[in-house]
Amino acid sequence: MENIAPALLEWFYKNQRILPFRTDPSPYHVWLSEIMLQQTRVSAALPYYERFLAALPDIPALAACEEEKLHKLWEGLGYYSRVRNLQKAARIVCEQYGGQLPADYDALRALPGIGDYTAGAIASISFGLAVPAVDGNVLRVFSRLYNDPGVITEPAVKRAFTARVMEHQPPEKAGDYNQALMELGALVCVPNGAPLCERCPLASLCEARRAGTALELPHKAAP
Ligand code: ADE
Repeated sequence: MENIAPALLEWFYKNQRILPFRTDPSPYHVWLSEIMLQQTRVSAALPYYERFLAALPDIPALAACEEEKLHKLWEGLGYYSRVRNLQKAARIVCEQYGGQLPADYDALRALPGIGDYTAGAIASISFGLAVPAVDGNVLRVFSRLYNDPGVITEPAVKRAFTARVMEHQPPEKAGDYNQALMELGALVCVPNGAPLCERCPLASLCEARRAGTALELPHKAAP
């Protein structure tokens, strides 16, 4: 398949949502947004994101925050282990890295609450490192693009998809490319109902579209 990045990035620069963590993509901002967005949609998370940063504008403030105040800032988002890990990691960052997140995928990955996806998002979006950030959106886009029936919850399938994502990644635009894939999955190659193929910059390359299987993909493990 030809490289998808030129058409994808052109679409992204014209159609991306203006979001606060894109306007100012500091490592702390991207980190916080990605943790909030793990279980919460963008529109629902935004007010919490703004309020959280107004109260705790940097990592040292997060590290020093009292538990009750922290809990209140997260109230409504649920999954409180996320905010407990956030503070645990903030304290480590203050002790080990002078209050700044490290510009290193493995060092990020080693922090509490930061998995492969979040480490990749921070490393690529904030630090410009050429690493993958593969979430459910990206797996859906690639399962359709390649008409691939692989079960996306299986680690080996996820690894194979990630390798394909990297085949198309332009190293000098890794962060934009990763976000463009997420955005395409959120706005066009949507999870519920029919994908909006007539708006998709990759429609002419999409093997699921050609085969008529987009609605059936991705394959998920039986419940
Ligand atoms: N969902 C999670 N992170 C996202 C991001 N950076 N852009 C768009 N959708 C997202």
